[in-house]
Amino acid sequence: MRPQNIKTRIFLDSGDPQETKQVLSALGFLDGQTTNPSLIAKNPELKNKLSNGERLSSEDINNFYKGVVQEISRMIPQGSVSVEVYADAETPVEEMLVQAREMNTWIPNAHIKLPITASGLEAAHILTSEGMRVNMTLCFSQQQAAAVYVATRGVKKGDVFLSPFIGRLDDQGENGMSFIENVHAMFAKSDGHVELLAASVRTYEHFEYCLKLGVDLVTAPAKILLQWAEHAMEVPSDGYMYDKGIMKDLLYEDVVLDKKWGEYDIHHDLTDAGLAKFVADWNSLISK
Ligand code: E4P
Repeated sequence: MRPQNIKTRIFLDSGDPQETKQVLSALGFLDGQTTNPSLIAKNPELKNKLSNGERLSSEDINNFYKGVVQEISRMIPQGSVSVEVYADAETPVEEMLVQAREMNTWIPNAHIKLPITASGLEAAHILTSEGMRVNMTLCFSQQQAAAVYVATRGVKKGDVFLSPFIGRLDDQGENGMSFIENVHAMFAKSDGHVELLAASVRTYEHFEYCLKLGVDLVTAPAKILLQWAEHAMEVPSDGYMYDKGIMKDLLYEDVVLDKKWGEYDIHHDLTDAGLAKFVADWNSLISK
């Protein structure tokens, strides 16, 4: 059962329903799950099909994704399941809208993942005004976080998640946890309609520090959540210190939250690289 002294909601980061089952049984609860094209590409059942020589079209893969998401949704009907659109840096808003509306019919508890590009923001603005829930992904800067906030202003709390990525900043020597601290601090001064979903959690220490900070939500791989279960789901005490090693902190930027969303500098190389990787992983599944 959920520890009493925990502020953060716990999500599993996985494209495999077997892991949902395993984590649910170890923790006794799960608030949601996030998926993405790379995680679906790692699904053991799908890998098995491919290694058995099955030829799959892009429609087959999409149907497989739908089946996975439906299976997960049935296990956590009270939770949220993030489903990601297929998009690169150039994907126009119309294409995202078509995919998002279709994916949203798959399950009753979806948050549709959209990238923080100009089209992604426009799509988020339109879809949330229709009552759809979104998870804005591949966030690496406060400017991007602020643009999401402004593009979805007025939307009710619970309908907009923002996913700042930790591990991919760490990968280039920047302290991803300092970025989480910065977005958390920036949103502390906001109306709270955008919830911070810490993503790209790679280590137990990332997970622990997210709990210590009390971010709204954290998504972590099964391995880390199972480790947490082994630690009796402990929540770090106030004295907990995160060791950033030799990584450089990202400095807090004083970003105002009242500009037009097109006025923020939303470009980030890691967003573009992340989109390219999702597309490549997805396309690698399609038989030529
Ligand atoms: C979840 O929403 C993210 O897509 C995921 O956490 C990314 O993790 P990674 O950087 O380890 O691929």
